[in-house]
Amino acid sequence: MKSVLIVSITVLLALMPRMDFGRSQDEAAAREAARGTAAHIVGPGECEDCHEAEVAALQASEHWKGFPAALESERGVTIAQAMGIAQPGKDWRCLQCHATPALKKDKLIALGGVSCESCHGGAEEWMDLHDDYGDGEKEEESGEHAAERISGTVKAGMRRPDRIHDVARACLGCHVVDDVKLVDEAGHPTGEGFELLAWSQGEVRHNYMKTDGERNLAASPERRRVLFLVGQLAALERLAPRVAAATAEGAQLNTLTARWNAAAAAVKKAHRLLGEASRLNALVSALEACAEKKVGNDVAKWARAAAEDYGRGDGRDLGPLDVMLPKGVEGQPAR
Ligand code: HEC
Ligand code: HEC
Ligand code: HEC
Ligand code: HEC
Repeated sequence: MKSVLIVSITVLLALMPRMDFGRSQDEAAAREAARGTAAHIVGPGECEDCHEAEVAALQASEHWKGFPAALESERGVTIAQAMGIAQPGKDWRCLQCHATPALKKDKLIALGGVSCESCHGGAEEWMDLHDDYGDGEKEEESGEHAAERISGTVKAGMRRPDRIHDVARACLGCHVVDDVKLVDEAGHPTGEGFELLAWSQGEVRHNYMKTDGERNLAASPERRRVLFLVGQLAALERLAPRVAAATAEGAQLNTLTARWNAAAAAVKKAHRLLGEASRLNALVSALEACAEKKVGNDVAKWARAAAEDYGRGDGRDLGPLDVMLPKGVEGQPAR
């Protein structure tokens, strides 16, 4: 019975290699999930020929530079010890959020820190497709071909900037640290400061496409609204099941609840500012219906639907949100 269970869990994990919210507190399971992800990873070296500026920006960011130094720092070792982990730089309970897994001669390795495919999805199956415009240049591509290209890359696991909710889900998979032991006992940061607009427009920013790698443009005013709103919606989606399931009291639960409350308040305010016609109606009803701390799955469902919808929009209809947007950014953008 037990082995049947283990086999089916392993099969399940292998079938869900791209389950971006899932993190495990069990070493074997974390390693197995990393192996599933690794099977699709090509590594930033494969992007460099065509995305030189983006790769340089990545290499200048904490995501890449901080690895493995953060894990092996005094703080990292202290956190690891409290978790009963001797080598944090080698343990997939830590590496699952701090590194990019890859396979080298079928052996699971940490290729480096957080990288392109941590956010955009393992590229093995979409890399050749995403810049295939058919017979001519991108400008000559037919609408039909473009639609097929885009849906083809999504099916192959690409998390695209023009469907920013998919990317936001990846961020929140790592930036909500909801392992009670890791936070409460080991003192790991909870990730509570994360906010998609400010955190994607500082050191993470790599907007070079419009200028062919020349300049790292700031997001347009319209795009900023989309990033902000989708970030709040994705936080609700991410936190809903977690806040609902939390039974223990502790700093961790308090932090998650505070984050939940902040995102819920932001979405309700956005709803008021945007008016009744807004596509947030169903979500706000679900938020109001759920009794305190007993958030239902409806919130996750409607948050996701709204985030997918707004995440494909151009933000022109979101002008009233400008009063809510954070002004600062997290870290310094690369040149
Ligand atoms: C052979 C060249 C080439 C390689 C290799 C390549 N890309 Fe691209 N990529 C492009 C082109 C061309 C575009 C579209 C640029 C434009 O519209 O100006 C693009 C666009 C993108 C976009 C924006 C969304 C889109 O589809 O327009 C993302 C994200 C992206 N690439 C990620 C990657 C990642 C990650 C890798 C490495 C795993 C990679 N690319 C490798 C050529 C390439
Ligand atoms: C695979 C996990 C993972 C994903 C996905 C991820 N991050 Fe991170 N991020 C981390 C880790 C781990 C650190 C801390 C790195 C260190 O200090 O070594 C970090 C650090 C950062 C920092 C620097 C924080 C600081 O304190 O200055 C920013 C900014 C950031 N992330 C933004 C983002 C954004 C925006 C996204 C999504 C678009 C994202 N991250 C996706 C794991 C991730
Ligand atoms: C769920 C994802 C996740 C897991 C699992 C995780 N981390 Fe982190 N870690 C992060 C994120 C995200 C940050 C950045 C937090 C921020 O800046 O808000 C971070 C930051 C850190 C920092 C602080 C870096 C700095 O310079 O301030 C250390 C140290 C660290 N982690 C060690 C560990 C160790 C050791 C483990 C394994 C026991 C571990 N982490 C497991 C996501 C994770
Ligand atoms: C921390 C998560 C994260 C990492 C790492 C990351 N990206 Fe992105 N990428 C994003 C986000 C978020 C956007 C959308 C930004 C926006 O709309 O302002 C984006 C947008 C893009 C775009 C479109 C930019 C434009 O000018 O419109 C390209 C191309 C791209 N990424 C390629 C890459 C490549 C190549 C790498 C690795 C060298 C990489 N990304 C690493 C999150 C990430």
